[in-house]
Amino acid sequence: MTGHRIDVSLGDRSYPIVVGRGVVDQLDDFVPDRARRAVVVTDPSIPFAVRTTLPSLVLHVGAGEDNKSLTTVERLCREFARFGLTRNDVVVAVGGGLVTDIAGFAAAVWHRGTAVIHVPTTLLGMVDAAIGGKTAVNIPEGKNLVGAFWQPQAVIADLDALDTLPERERRCGLGEIAKYHFIAGDDLLALPLDERVARCAEIKARIVEEDERESGRRALLNYGHTLAHALESAGNHDLAHGEAVAIGLLFAAELGRELGRIDRDRVEFHRRVVRSEYGLATPDQIASAALLGPRDLIDFMRRDKKATDGLTFVLDGRNGLEVVADIDPSTVESALRTFFDRPVG
Ligand code: GLY
Repeated sequence: MTGHRIDVSLGDRSYPIVVGRGVVDQLDDFVPDRARRAVVVTDPSIPFAVRTTLPSLVLHVGAGEDNKSLTTVERLCREFARFGLTRNDVVVAVGGGLVTDIAGFAAAVWHRGTAVIHVPTTLLGMVDAAIGGKTAVNIPEGKNLVGAFWQPQAVIADLDALDTLPERERRCGLGEIAKYHFIAGDDLLALPLDERVARCAEIKARIVEEDERESGRRALLNYGHTLAHALESAGNHDLAHGEAVAIGLLFAAELGRELGRIDRDRVEFHRRVVRSEYGLATPDQIASAALLGPRDLIDFMRRDKKATDGLTFVLDGRNGLEVVADIDPSTVESALRTFFDRPVG
């Protein structure tokens, strides 16, 4: 085998993540022995193909969050039925987080669970979305509200796919890598690309092993995500996920300061990492986010899966990141106003 291999150890749901150039050629090695057919789900705009020796059907899902819907899942499942896909067969998801989330969910519900192999083709997919078994689609009331935990058979992260990645997609991946910077404290930008992707995959794998279903530590992976999901939903996905996460990271620092958990220096550290080192969360993007209005953003946050009576955020503090529940929405609104008024501090 070539490339880096990281194992996600989850008992009978364990699987490898393979990272490297040309590793997609190993696809057949990870197909379950019992599989007789494969359905490849991909986005036609992705210039990256996979080969399998199994009889296969290629299905397309369009780019854009509007396609991440139950309607798409129904269409895929009806195609699975016409192709004769059985529970012993395999779905191969080739694309970014949108494709792996939709195809993963379709595989999770097809015949109550069919194997899926993820072949992420974006940086964001390789370091986050394709790992850990979260699958979901959106409904108009919010993002990722309908889904399932369904661990893949394998994640094959072929770095050749990144050679043609549009700049905006690259920045999105950086948003999630910046998140790992705060979770693990590693200087990930100092590593060459293959080691950086492998290290992020490893950080995520260890967290998923500890807390597969997000009843504890895994929630830290949502750092920056409470505001990010609201920005994406309220703005009809004008901001891509990683761009929204980067803004969410800066806001989480501001909220942490407002709640007395961290001081100005630590907020400044967030700005330095997210802005200066990763080049994300530009003043223009924050200005467009501000147009969405703090009230509407709070409404979307209330519908977040993690919200209880109040709002839930992952926040920095003296002991590192922690999940903080039941935050008064008026405190969040006031922090949002401060943040939008003075985004550069
Ligand atoms: N993307 C966050 C998680 O997988 O838990």
